[in-house]
Amino acid sequence: MPPSAGAAPADLRISAVDDGVVTITIARPEARNALRHQTMIELADAITAADRDEAVRCIVLAGGEKAFAAGADIAEMIALDGPALEQHPRTEAWRRIWASGCPMVAAVEGLALGGGCELVLSCDIAIAGSGARFGQPEITLGWMPGAGGTQRLARSAGKSVAMQLVLTGDPIDAAAALRSGMVSEMVAAGDALARATAIARRIASQPRAATRLARHAVLLAFETPLADGVQAEQASFRALASSDERHRRMRAFLERPR
Ligand code: CAA
Repeated sequence: MPPSAGAAPADLRISAVDDGVVTITIARPEARNALRHQTMIELADAITAADRDEAVRCIVLAGGEKAFAAGADIAEMIALDGPALEQHPRTEAWRRIWASGCPMVAAVEGLALGGGCELVLSCDIAIAGSGARFGQPEITLGWMPGAGGTQRLARSAGKSVAMQLVLTGDPIDAAAALRSGMVSEMVAAGDALARATAIARRIASQPRAATRLARHAVLLAFETPLADGVQAEQASFRALASSDERHRRMRAFLERPR
């Protein structure tokens, strides 16, 4: 059943805002955090709410010790054919997650498989505990990634790694994910949340408008030809040039005590 508006999420824990950071934790350990329809809708609701909250500057997305998320819930997915998927609230939930303008840092321990790996790829930064594993096993089910995995994986990890994951279905470990560029840091097992939170706090301490525009400009690198991306970057750069915040911060640097 989809959650009703205002109800506490069943599959997530959502922290209070702390230093501009909200932590959303997928908490369905008995199913290795498999992303049932309800989980996806709750995630989209939580991320959308954080995006709209001026007090939230960065989101940390975490899972459990054994699994960040073991993919879409196969018990539910088996019933969905093509037309049903097109109209389904879980498809819309993914779109709502991608539409968020709030920076998001993934803290990955354990397995990030299928839709779980695609969720990591949907974050702006990913930090992996050394025991994390990343994979797109859909091919072993006669299916394929359907939440942006083929595109985001090819763009973040390159063609060969993307093909290997998508065509073999075999996972790679955290060290290989680090080498490929899927994650930016590997830390000791169990430390991913602490490191992701430290990075999120650092992002949250930066001016909100500049952070969101800069993030958007980087994301354009995945969506536009170079010349269009540079043009969009320069428009945001000029918009921020007129902001009081920029003047204040640059003046503070020049007038710092020496
Ligand atoms: N969907 C539904 N249930 C899942 C699940 C999933 N993706 N992954 C794990 N579970 C459930 C198991 O059925 C099991 O439930 P019961 O206790 O009721 O039997 C429970 O979680 C624990 O799982 P295991 O006993 O299998 O635990 P394990 O540690 O031995 O193995 C695992 C964990 C490697 C993740 C294994 O469960 C597994 O291979 N899961 C499937 C992973 C997968 O194929 N993911 C891709 C799904 S498809 C997708 O994401 C996109 C798409 O739809 C196209």
